[in-house]
Amino acid sequence: MKIYVDTAIVDEIRQVWELGILDGVTTNPSLILKSGRNLTDALKEISQIVDDCISGEVISLDYQGMVKEALELMKISKKIVIKIPMTKDGLKAVKELTAQGIRTNVTLVFSANQALLAAKAGATYVSPFLGRLDDVGEDSMQLIHDIKQIYQNYQFPTQIICASIRSPLHVLKCAKAGADIATVPYKIIMDMFNHPLTNVGIDRFLQDYEKSKK
Ligand code: G3P
Repeated sequence: MKIYVDTAIVDEIRQVWELGILDGVTTNPSLILKSGRNLTDALKEISQIVDDCISGEVISLDYQGMVKEALELMKISKKIVIKIPMTKDGLKAVKELTAQGIRTNVTLVFSANQALLAAKAGATYVSPFLGRLDDVGEDSMQLIHDIKQIYQNYQFPTQIICASIRSPLHVLKCAKAGADIATVPYKIIMDMFNHPLTNVGIDRFLQDYEKSKK
């Protein structure tokens, strides 16, 4: 499973990149706001750090506006994937951008039918939001299983990006479900490294090493 970092904060992206485990980055308008930069500057800087797959989101709600924004974003870097909300205009824009060879990530996906439609429109990626579904008492993992099964049934090439990840357990469940990608907040990636027994083990080995020198 690929791991993306779900942030627009450049320092966080650089740190995860240097760990050698990063396959891409996703941003959205809220994450851009948190980063203190504007979208263009953030995407420019991020594209100087990571190899590929940097999602930048359009904010237009109409098809023409979305396509226009997407073409502007693509001038920043060919590494950019255009993130488009799951609406009728959004899917029209996906169809058009796909025809132009531009990769798209359909976001704010909350049902398997939405994921089916996005795949039919030619989306490169769909982003089902796990945490936000859990928040309203729905079974987010069932959604991932359903989308996976539908894409397998019909050999859709669209890849599943598990988004709105709130815990290391979400990441684990996405990996077990066979999701293509999980986009994970910086803090949760850091949490994934930890296990108390690893720290205890290191301490014990170091103590024994010191004793063995005497
Ligand atoms: O990838 C989407 C994500 O940024 C939304 O996360 O925690 O606001 O639901 P959250």
